[in-house]
Amino acid sequence: MEKGKKGSLEELFRERIEKIDPRILEGLGRKELFSFRINHHRATAQEALELLERDGFHPERVPWGEDLFTLPIEDRRRIVKSRAYTEHLIYIQNLSSIFAASTLSVAPTDWVLDLAAAPGGKSLIFSERAAKVSAVEPDRRRFFRMRRNFKEHGAKNIQTYQKDGRSVAKSCPGWFDKVFLDAPCSSEAHIDGEVTWWNLRRVRRFAKLQKELIVSAFESLKPGGEMVYATCTFSPEENEAVIDFLLKRYPESDLLPISPPFENYMEGLLQWEGERFDRRVRGAVRILPQGAFSGFFLARIGKGE
Ligand SMILES: C[S@@+](CC[C@H](N)C(=O)[O-])C[C@H]1O[C@@H](n2cnc3c(N)ncnc32)[C@H](O)[C@@H]1O
Repeated sequence: MEKGKKGSLEELFRERIEKIDPRILEGLGRKELFSFRINHHRATAQEALELLERDGFHPERVPWGEDLFTLPIEDRRRIVKSRAYTEHLIYIQNLSSIFAASTLSVAPTDWVLDLAAAPGGKSLIFSERAAKVSAVEPDRRRFFRMRRNFKEHGAKNIQTYQKDGRSVAKSCPGWFDKVFLDAPCSSEAHIDGEVTWWNLRRVRRFAKLQKELIVSAFESLKPGGEMVYATCTFSPEENEAVIDFLLKRYPESDLLPISPPFENYMEGLLQWEGERFDRRVRGAVRILPQGAFSGFFLARIGKGE
């Protein structure tokens, strides 16, 4: 049952998170590092690193992924004034987001749909790897900021659409080689102090929208294609339950494996608050907040021919 006062909302939030995994609470709000990647549209790693070193930054390379680096959080305010940043040679992005985008196996000939795209960080990753990207965002302000972002970072193969992602399947059924749905969510991973804007009504409202969006994402995908569903929230209603819903509705859908090259993650839950999920949901990944990783959930989904 929803609890009314702010104190009890906080209690409810913590109870739920503890039930998922108590390690999440340890990492929430503790930020010691931040991460960035090289924007290959504008520079090589060597060019960007030389500039950064000259400005007194000593980034540490992340052992997985391509040209990813971390720095202590104290450098975050200073780096945005550096040449490497203002000339868009680097892109500050959370490691969880970068990992999620990297689990979509994009081929150089692919046309990728990013169904909830602003501010565009993941579309920029796809644009370095795919032939073409379609980025969809309904919010006007976020849409224009995203367009500016693409231009500044030199991405020339991204088409942008200001529209509701739920309508895409109707105009482009079975169209895209790959689809990424970074769904709007209750953003629990960004709660780093008092619980002020969170409540269960919000979780349920997003869960409904997410189911509508995942249907559109899956129907926009070519048979034989692959998609990733992701959120920056912990609630199973917005994560496992959405995947379970898709698996039940589409017999041609299936979970594809994800192998994180780090240890701060857990498999998808098989039950929550009395609801049992399809056993395949175990193949999803919930990233636990730690170091330069914020909390994240992702599932890789295949569509049969
Ligand atoms: C988690 S953010 C996406 C972040 C982005 N993928 C990135 O990495 O930069 C979710 C986005 O979904 C957008 N959104 C909200 N409702 C939507 C809808 N019905 N269809 C498509 N996008 C929607 C939000 O405005 C927000 O920009």
